[in-house]
Amino acid sequence: MTLGPQLKGKTAVVTGGASGIGAAIVSLFAQHGAKVAIADLDFDNAKLVAERCVAEGGVAKAWSLNVTDAQATSLLMSEVAEEFGSIDILVTAAGILDQQDFLEMSEETFDRTIAIDLKGVFLAGRYAAPYMVKQGSGRIINIASQTAIKGAVSLSHYVAAKSGVIGMTKSMALELAQYGILVNAIAPGPIETPLFDGITQEWRNAKKKELPLGRFGRAEEVAPTALLLASSPGGDIYTGQTLGPNSGDVMP
Ligand SMILES: NC(=O)c1ccc[n+]([C@@H]2O[C@H](COP(=O)([O-])OP(=O)(O)OC[C@H]3O[C@@H](n4cnc5c(N)ncnc54)[C@H](O)[C@@H]3O)[C@@H](O)[C@H]2O)c1
Repeated sequence: MTLGPQLKGKTAVVTGGASGIGAAIVSLFAQHGAKVAIADLDFDNAKLVAERCVAEGGVAKAWSLNVTDAQATSLLMSEVAEEFGSIDILVTAAGILDQQDFLEMSEETFDRTIAIDLKGVFLAGRYAAPYMVKQGSGRIINIASQTAIKGAVSLSHYVAAKSGVIGMTKSMALELAQYGILVNAIAPGPIETPLFDGITQEWRNAKKKELPLGRFGRAEEVAPTALLLASSPGGDIYTGQTLGPNSGDVMP
């Protein structure tokens, strides 16, 4: 069987699409024929990613969005639906990570991570899903983290948010199946992206030794999992699942 462009005629919104995993998903989706809306706080990088897609013959446009802003998220979805005609796929990749020991963590640090990494995922799904309900189909792919499954030192706020994402994904899958909307999560292991910039070399070396594959992943190696979940027939019977491109670090 020869597979053609798998997302031809589909519109995808990718939050956090200006960098790392989100940007790799944007590129792969555009290569597969989707019209892609890149929604990110970093509008300059979002524009660069969009320009690169367009230069390669794809359709992509950048939007400036803070995923913690409900009104702005609602407006973004209506603008994308107006400009591209539908919202078929949502990928929630926007996120932050900063290490902080539990005994030193401030309420402000905890709240900020929950606002971006959990509430931001809720808001994007909350305002994208009605367009999918109207058309009787859709795919929502939430980017979680394997840390939600195994825990992580100095990341209790991040792990709380990502565990919330996995749990919410299951509830969304249960509620939205009746409308033909499939909702899944991806829980990557360590992936070399700018999110990792602040992590020490010492930690990296120790972590690599723990991994059965002996190396971190690249964003381009996570994007095909999103393509699988977004496409048909590949993704047709996945819902409420958490897939783990993680170098073998977690085997649930
Ligand atoms: N890199 C890893 O090892 C790894 C592992 C597991 C999960 N993840 C998750 O994958 C997702 C993408 O991470 P990445 O590694 O590509 O990081 P990244 O830093 O390269 O990209 C994150 C993007 O999110 C955007 N963003 C941050 N706050 C935002 C906000 N309030 N509103 C809108 N956009 C915002 C940033 O501008 C950036 O473009 C995150 O949710 C992260 O938690 C990453």
